[in-house]
Order: sequence, then C-alpha cells, then structure tokens
Amino acid sequence: MRLTKTADQWWKTAVLYCASVQTFLDTNGDGRGDLEGMTSRIDYLADLGITCLWLMPFYPTADADDGYDITDFLTVDPRDGDLADFVSLVQVARSRGIRVIIDFVMNHTSDQHPWFKESRKSVDNPYRNYYVWRSSTPPDTSAAVVFPDVEDSLWELDERTGEYYLHNFYKTQPDLNVANPEVREQISKVMGLWLQLGVSGFRVDAVPFLFAVDDVPAKEREFQYDPHDTLRHLKAYCGRRDSDVILLGEVNVPYKDQKKFFGGADGDELTMQFDFIGMQAIWLALARGDARPLAKALAGRPALDESNQYANFLRNHDELTLDKLTDAERQEVFDAFGPDPDMQLYDRGLRRRLPPMLGGDPRRIRLAYSLMFSLPGTPCLFYGEEIGMGENLDIPGRYSVRTPMQWGPNATGGFSTAKPRSLVRPIPEGPYGPARINVSDQRSDPDSLWTFMSTLIRRYRQSPEIGWGAVQVLKHDQPSVLAHLVQQEDWAMVAVHNLGDEPVSVSLSFDGVLDRDLTGPAAPAPVDHLAGLLHGGRVELDGKGGFDVDLDGYGYRWLRVVREGDIRIA
Ligand code: NOJ
Ligand code: CA
Repeated sequence: MRLTKTADQWWKTAVLYCASVQTFLDTNGDGRGDLEGMTSRIDYLADLGITCLWLMPFYPTADADDGYDITDFLTVDPRDGDLADFVSLVQVARSRGIRVIIDFVMNHTSDQHPWFKESRKSVDNPYRNYYVWRSSTPPDTSAAVVFPDVEDSLWELDERTGEYYLHNFYKTQPDLNVANPEVREQISKVMGLWLQLGVSGFRVDAVPFLFAVDDVPAKEREFQYDPHDTLRHLKAYCGRRDSDVILLGEVNVPYKDQKKFFGGADGDELTMQFDFIGMQAIWLALARGDARPLAKALAGRPALDESNQYANFLRNHDELTLDKLTDAERQEVFDAFGPDPDMQLYDRGLRRRLPPMLGGDPRRIRLAYSLMFSLPGTPCLFYGEEIGMGENLDIPGRYSVRTPMQWGPNATGGFSTAKPRSLVRPIPEGPYGPARINVSDQRSDPDSLWTFMSTLIRRYRQSPEIGWGAVQVLKHDQPSVLAHLVQQEDWAMVAVHNLGDEPVSVSLSFDGVLDRDLTGPAAPAPVDHLAGLLHGGRVELDGKGGFDVDLDGYGYRWLRVVREGDIRIA
C-alpha cells in the first residue's frame, strides 16, 4: 500500500479482545479474577496478537448486572484490586503494544450509587435531576423492556416521593438524566480520570438508550437536549485530552440509523460501532448454509467516513441477539444452533458460545472466524474464543457464557487455586470442560484452534486493506459462497468462503471491480497472480481478470492480489 494517508489511526487495524477481570485469572485464591491476574496474562495476549484489550466493568458495583450497575465510577472494585493495580495493568499492556479500553456506562448507575440515594430522597434534592423522574402515570412500556423475564415497565414508582423513575434496564439501574448539564459534566470528569490513568478509549454501553428522550413527557423535561451534542462534546473532550482516544459504541440499530451515531460528515461522534446487523446476518447465513443474507447485509452497510470504523464480532458477553432478524429467520437460527428452550433467552437470542452452536465441527468454527476476520473493519474477540470455550447452561441467563478462562486441564481450569465450587462461576464439564479445552494444551499444538486464531490475527494485521478498505461482493453462481474483495489504494485481497458442506468451484472476475475507484496519476501495476494468505498456494488469472477458486465443504481462502513487480514480505 502506498499508504499516502497517515497511518496513526491505530484502531483501524486493531485486534480487540474483550475480557472481564473477574473471570480471567485469580491470583489470591479467593475464586474471583483480579487485576493482577489480568496483568500477568498480558504477555499471553501479546503472543496471541491482540492489540487492544477491552475490559468489562471493574468498578464498585451492587452486583445486580455483572458490574454494569455501578456504585462509584471513580475507582475499582476492591475485590479486583486497587487503582495502582489498574495503572500497572495499563502500563504493562502498553509496554507490550496493547492498548486498554474500558467499559463506560453513562446511561445509568446502580440504585445504590450515592447520586441515586440522594435523588430519591425528595423532589427538591440537589441530585433529583441527575435521574429521569415523572409524576404522571407512565404509559404501558412493557413491549420495550430489555429484560422481560424480570421487568414489565421502563418506569418504577418510588414510594417515598410518589414519582416514577426511568430505567431502561433492571429497576435497580435508574437511567441518568444525560440532558442535565451537571450530569454531563460528571461524565466528562469520570472520563478525564480514566484517560489520565492511561486508557485509550471507552466502549460506550447502551448508546441508543441515551437518545430515548421521548420517554419523558415534554412538560416534565427540565432541559433541552440534543443527544448528538453529548456524543460530539464527549468525543471532542476526549480528543483534547488524548488525540488517540476512541469511543466504541454499543449501538444495535438498523444500518439506516447507524450512520447518525458516527456523527456528521467528519464522523465526530462515535469512532467505532459494533456491526450487530452484519453479525446477525452471518448467523442466518451459517444456519442456512447460504451466503446471500450476508452478501445482502454487506451491500447495505453504509460506507463510512475515514475517521470511523465497524467492529466485527460473532459473540460477546451478552446473549447472541437475533432481534433484527424476522421471526421466521430467528426461528431458523434457533432451530439450527439453539433448539432447546433453555438455550434461548428473551425470545430474541441464544445464551451460547460459538463452538457448541456449530456442533464442535472444527471446519465450521474456523470458517466462521476466517469470515469474521476478513470482513472490512476491526475484529473483536470475546475471551476464550481463541481456544473454543463452550458455555455452561447450568448458569442462569446471560452468565452462561461468562465462565472462568480455561488456562489448564485441572478442575479449576488453572484459573484459581480455590476449590472448584468456590469459583466466581462454575466451569463447564464434559466436552467443553478444561480437561479438553485449555490454553496450555493448545498453545503448543500447531493444529489447535489457538494456533489457527493466532495465524488469522497475524494475517489480518498483514492485510491493512481489511481495516482500511472498501468492500465489494463479487458476483458468481454458487449460493453457498461469499466472495468479497477489500481494497485500499493498490492493496487488495479477495476472500472466498463456502458456508455449505459440499465442495464447490466458483468462477470469479475482477473485471470492472478491481481498482475501479483508484484515481491519481500512478495506475497500479497489472495483477500478476493471487497468493494464498492462509494456506499458501497461488491462483492465476485469465487474460480478462477471471479466476476460479475450488473450496472444500466449509472451505475458505484469502487471496492477496499480487501485482507485477511486487516484492512481498508477507
Ligand atoms: C449492555 C451490556 O452489554 C449488558 O451486559 C448490560 O446488561 C446492559 N448494557 C446494561 O448496562
Ligand atoms: Ca482474586
């Protein structure tokens, strides 16, 4: 790549890794992971190729939503360590080339947060307007609740003052009134602290809920509020403190609405957003063995400003949400990957990890990750994905996928010296237990998923056009195959994935697609051949830009466009 543009947007080609301190490694034998444990595994993450660690909440919490119900934004949970441990972690990570971003929950606090304890005392308490209160009877909001198993309204009557407060999530998570300038000031202050302690950005929780201003009757709204102003303000503020900082938003909305959360023409709000739509399309495509839903999603993905990016993922710490599929499509995914009602959650998702969903089939598991890493954007792994950990369905709700990291083959998976029954969560038994799935065995095995994943990460890092480039889906006549071209300046790679179990041969062509948008005096050199990035080998082109690719069932190839005269170092 001539890379005439500055290459200082580190997050364009980062490899993200989400982990929770509590479930990563326990160093003091209390059965719960801690910051020291996380720090001692930074070398492990660096070896895997991770360049950015996303930490789930580690703040003091009332323990009602795995740390997403915060009682103090300004420090760490004493069970995890202290602020100095946090700074050590960031420092050690930096020294190994890993940046740290942290979960940031600005939509709500715990009801045990001192602000809320004050707020609920009286209607004229100075903290009253830190939260969203209404005196009139709320409308029926039962259809909008996020956790329908325990909540039936977004509003809760608080006896003491006889008014209702807004809570988009559990009733113990009252929504902050981000329209209140004082609250916004507090949010900036909190961000300022963590930036000073060395973080490189924030994973901003539950962004669309900050925008739900219409939930509050106009006459009771004290402040005029444009939520975009808040995001713009925070982005600018973070940028002033440290120009490298990213805001990575959790924004599960249709593509047509996603653009506005990135901001105006220069992308001045969220830096990155998770691609929830693409993720759901991948699962539908995998369930059908038909790549067309994904091809359609990719074609509908809004093109982004250079200062923005998508984060691609297959699984995260929540249920695999399928809420943007139609009922019939969702049922197809349920039938394929989670037929037992106990695997399903809130009628919209699956509380499972990827490998058991794919029947433990190594071909399909690798195909899925190859696909994810080849999609334009920045890949994001959830801890344990690199070794193919499974879920523990004995644990209720979403926590089934948040079991301790499996480092070794013993009963505690090398996570802790505590007794197995004293662990923060029970480790799965059976085929996904630590005896069969653990880091220690896989790291020294050239054929393991861990080794595959580290190769995938290295190839992704060697292919900056995936992070920087534009995507085009190539036409062909095999429904089970996705063939897509990513290109940036004169760098280009085509990835071909067969989602079906039968071998196929696809005929593809670059005619009218490759280099189409290249401008400038220096025309790129003609293509010499395509070089296999994952499995080696090469593919020759016919004189008109056409080429054939043969794939096994669930087969995949990444093919780098090699031009005449190129000297390849990767
Ligand atoms: C989204 C988080 O991913 C989820 O785990 C949490 O329960 C809600 N936001 C509320 O903070
Ligand atoms: Ca511990």
